[in-house]
Amino acid sequence: MERTLSLIKPDGVAKNLIGEVIKRFETAGIKIVAMKKMQLTKSQAEGFYAVHKERPFFGSLIDFMTSGPIVAMVLEGDDVIAKNRKLMGATNFKEAEEGTIRREFATDIEKNVVHGSDAPETAAFEINHFFNNMEIVG
Ligand code: CMP
Repeated sequence: MERTLSLIKPDGVAKNLIGEVIKRFETAGIKIVAMKKMQLTKSQAEGFYAVHKERPFFGSLIDFMTSGPIVAMVLEGDDVIAKNRKLMGATNFKEAEEGTIRREFATDIEKNVVHGSDAPETAAFEINHFFNNMEIVG
């Protein structure tokens, strides 16, 4: 059994895609074991995306991620990191497979609707960034 962090980004929340994204997780048999809607501060967003801080898009990414509310979730299931990434599609929506969340709803490489952890180590860091143990209900 594995866990991963999923975010519905400000563009996804603004486009009323919360239910759409959750429905895809539940239909795929993925269990949501924690969930909250929140407005990130600049330092929370910078901490979350610290691995990208030298990238040219970092400043713009932080502005975007703090531009409106997000929904953070912990997903649980067998192989859920890979399953979630398959449902999301590639970071760049133009490269994402047909039928994926990003292919259907993203409008540019930054405003790509969702985030999902890419490995067990990053999942542990990212889950811990948003949730404490008492907020995760299996
Ligand atoms: P995410 O999977 O959350 O990880 C980093 C985010 O940076 C990415 O999705 C996009 O929202 C954003 N981003 C903006 N430009 C780029 C880029 N050129 N390459 C990768 N990520 C980018």
